[in-house]
Amino acid sequence: MRFTGFTFGAAAMVHLAAAHYTFSGLLIDDKLVGEEWQYVRRHDRGYMPTFREEAATSDDFRCNKGAGSGADTDVYTVKPGDKVGLRQAFAADGIRHPGPAQVYLSLAPGSVKEYDGSGEWIKVSQDLACKAGLSAKDLQTDGWCVWDENNISFVVPENIPEGEYLVRAEHIALHGAHEGRAEFYYACAQVKVMGSTGTSLPGDKVLIPGVYGVDDEAINFSIWGGKDTYPYLPGPKVAPGGTIRGSADGSSAETATVPVGESGSSENEPPAGESEIPVPTSTKGTAAETTSAAPAPSVPAGEGGSDESVTTSAAPVPSVPVEEGGSDKSVTASTTATKGTETPRPVCNSRNRRRRHSL
Ligand SMILES: *[C@@H]1O[C@H](CO)[C@@H](O)[C@H](O)[C@H]1NC(C)=O
Ligand SMILES: *[C@@H]1O[C@H](CO)[C@@H](O)[C@H](O)[C@H]1NC(C)=O
Repeated sequence: MRFTGFTFGAAAMVHLAAAHYTFSGLLIDDKLVGEEWQYVRRHDRGYMPTFREEAATSDDFRCNKGAGSGADTDVYTVKPGDKVGLRQAFAADGIRHPGPAQVYLSLAPGSVKEYDGSGEWIKVSQDLACKAGLSAKDLQTDGWCVWDENNISFVVPENIPEGEYLVRAEHIALHGAHEGRAEFYYACAQVKVMGSTGTSLPGDKVLIPGVYGVDDEAINFSIWGGKDTYPYLPGPKVAPGGTIRGSADGSSAETATVPVGESGSSENEPPAGESEIPVPTSTKGTAAETTSAAPAPSVPAGEGGSDESVTTSAAPVPSVPVEEGGSDKSVTASTTATKGTETPRPVCNSRNRRRRHSL
């Protein structure tokens, strides 16, 4: 009996380890450099996820629990064009939860070893859906670009300033998102960028916490509701020079670079208005703004957030799906749709209804 219990326990643990994950290895051009946790801040959460309430409010959401300091973590020097990835810890046997992946960067004011991540972050990489003919079932499994992959990566853009950075790779697992239980898996590497030419961080900036709100459509998306696209972007738009892989409907698995010319010039954030350029005004700083824009899709939300989607609404060309504003636009549009159609469905069976009334 005891023996059986032990066996079962061990098996359960292995299973858990396979389902959950975090990131511990630094990959440069797809090769592991150094040891695990040498360039990635070791944290105390093991392979357990973070949930949305904590994600929305806790400083631990930057580099994970117990990783506020980088004093014991080395810094790896990279240059523009280098592919930098964070590889899964433990078995590194692939991400097998459905959901998008992101890479965020924050420039340390000085040494990244002493940086707590409280400054501004930009998003430099976004992985969405990568399977042509995406079905609802694909969105529950391998329709996602990073499904079965063991690392989340980005290419160091030319247009960021030289300096020391936190590189935060994140996967959001959506299988429990319909119950408000999206799972966040993330960790931070420390790199020093040399040879780049930017004078300030390009694109939309967010703070962490703040990048996601508890009601964000992107992290509150039910993969069980029959949807066959994921027309959202978690957090801010990808910064100019960053990349977007896949798309909302999976029609392309290609990686597109967000042009530097167009919105790269908007770093100085001109006043909101009828600019032709997608202007990253509203997302600046507080993601609370970003996210609060989303739940109120009926009103053409104040602030630049949705202005720019209107401005760039010419963008959604089928072949180049998620470049820049294109995705933003779909966010706004489908937000409205979601509200109208999906919400009633799960709630509308009589049992739920009754329960709701009795509350
Ligand atoms: C990182 O992920 C990519 C995509 O799955 C894979 O081709 C590559 O081998 C991985 N790199 C390492 C070092 O495991
Ligand atoms: C999901 O977000 C919507 C608002 O967009 C909210 O009404 C709903 O309660 C959220 N669902 C859960 C399970 O948190």
